[in-house]
Amino acid sequence: MHTLEKVLILDFGGQSAQLLARLVRELQVYCEIMPYDLSFKRLSAARPSALILVGEAAGAPTKTFYCDPRFYQLPIPILAVGVGMPALVKDLGGEITVSPAAATGEYYFSIQAEAELFAGLGAGLRARESSRARIQKIPPGFKVIAAGPELSAAALADDARKFYALPFQAEMLHTSEGRQILGNFLFKIARFSGEWTMKNFIAHSIREIRAKVGTQGKAVCGLSGGIDSAVAALLVQQAIGPKLTCIFVDNGLLRKGEREQVQRIFQDKFNLKIITVDAAAEFLGLLRGVTDPEKKRKIIGHHFIDVFAREAKKSSGIDFLVQGTLYSDVVESGTPAAALIKSHHNVGGLPAEMPFTLLEPLRYLFKDEVREVAAELGLPEEIVWRHPFPGPGLAVRILGEVTSEKIAILQEADYIIVEEIKKAGLYRKIWQAFAVLPDILSVGVKEGRRVYAHTIALRAVTSQDGTTADWYPFPLDVLRTISSRIVQEIPAVNRFVYDLTPKPPATIEWE
Ligand code: XMP
Repeated sequence: MHTLEKVLILDFGGQSAQLLARLVRELQVYCEIMPYDLSFKRLSAARPSALILVGEAAGAPTKTFYCDPRFYQLPIPILAVGVGMPALVKDLGGEITVSPAAATGEYYFSIQAEAELFAGLGAGLRARESSRARIQKIPPGFKVIAAGPELSAAALADDARKFYALPFQAEMLHTSEGRQILGNFLFKIARFSGEWTMKNFIAHSIREIRAKVGTQGKAVCGLSGGIDSAVAALLVQQAIGPKLTCIFVDNGLLRKGEREQVQRIFQDKFNLKIITVDAAAEFLGLLRGVTDPEKKRKIIGHHFIDVFAREAKKSSGIDFLVQGTLYSDVVESGTPAAALIKSHHNVGGLPAEMPFTLLEPLRYLFKDEVREVAAELGLPEEIVWRHPFPGPGLAVRILGEVTSEKIAILQEADYIIVEEIKKAGLYRKIWQAFAVLPDILSVGVKEGRRVYAHTIALRAVTSQDGTTADWYPFPLDVLRTISSRIVQEIPAVNRFVYDLTPKPPATIEWE
């Protein structure tokens, strides 16, 4: 991403850098996140046109200098907010003390009339103070452009260098006044043109892929039916056409109709060259008698790699492997918590030892941007808004041993659930909704006869990103319809229950 004008967000810890990055992108300015203590060499290589220093108190370091002093010698504007504010003030020769009391107050800041950063705002604004840092001395070259109850709560500006320090919590930038301030910084001060649109991204990405792959290169992509691999594949297809081959592995653990859907959409409509591998029997054979959840995941993950590698080897001369890695994976990798989540989710990921160069066209996109690209490329809603589906598929929704009978029961139940949720207009309000087969047999009566049959559980949660979740409060009539359809239409089921557990302590998937 070198040719686009770019803001570099220097991250001082916490969630605010990612949230801010999404906001900057919404304002149609491209940005990337890097740690505040990156080397000057890396910073220069990124060629930013502006810097934003942002973070939460938890991650603030205590050093003589926070950032390499050379950052401040680049002729580019800087905005500091959250704990970025005391960092910038200290780095540029101001003085800071840290108050023992946490700053929780909401203050009124009166604005100096001539401040360009506050153009379009009234005489003042209310905001929470950012940290326990107190400014004792303003750094040379700066003046106060908004004053709160004390010096610590002053917004500072050095108009000559275009450096700005805001004493607010970063979340303030997400209010309408905050967006105005951020917009002023980006468009009036840093003079960005706001060219970051998904249309531009597509054009840019196609050029980059062509440059990387060349005229002779061939690529392979594992298509899962999900939005990320689909968008990645379509971008590469637009760049290199039939030199892209997609491999779709039917492991027999997919939802009802999924294989046909992939064929109908990607092969028939988008003309992707797809090799469909029917590996259901192999997977089922390997899973026979296995009940341990981790063992099931490992078997499926490893065998997926084997099947994929086997198929890829059949097409000669492939040098590139397309993957749908997103920016949140890139930013988060490296933190211990993220590493854990990753290893869990990479079950079903692709072989590290395969001799391919990676093509990751979505590496700089957030999920909502991928959805926009998907819509721009003409992908239908059923793919754009599809709920996430785990790599090991239905196997982690069947407790205990996986058999073809159980898969068939679960596929039917899952189909009914999704159909009814869509009918009720609730599909997009829910992060994930699916059926689980707890492998419990219980007594009941069907058609006047005593039966000993299966239970289906419904799992439906709301969530931002899957790391935490809460159960979805369904209208009772929707639950009633789902329940009666499942026990009436699926002969092997005589009981239906709804899982009312948030994550934590329960995970979203049952295994
Ligand atoms: P859990 O069950 O850990 O799931 O609360 C969180 C989110 O991750 C999805 N998930 C997976 N996705 N491969 C994937 O690609 C996996 O092995 C996997 N396991 C869980 C899950 O569906 C939910 O969205």
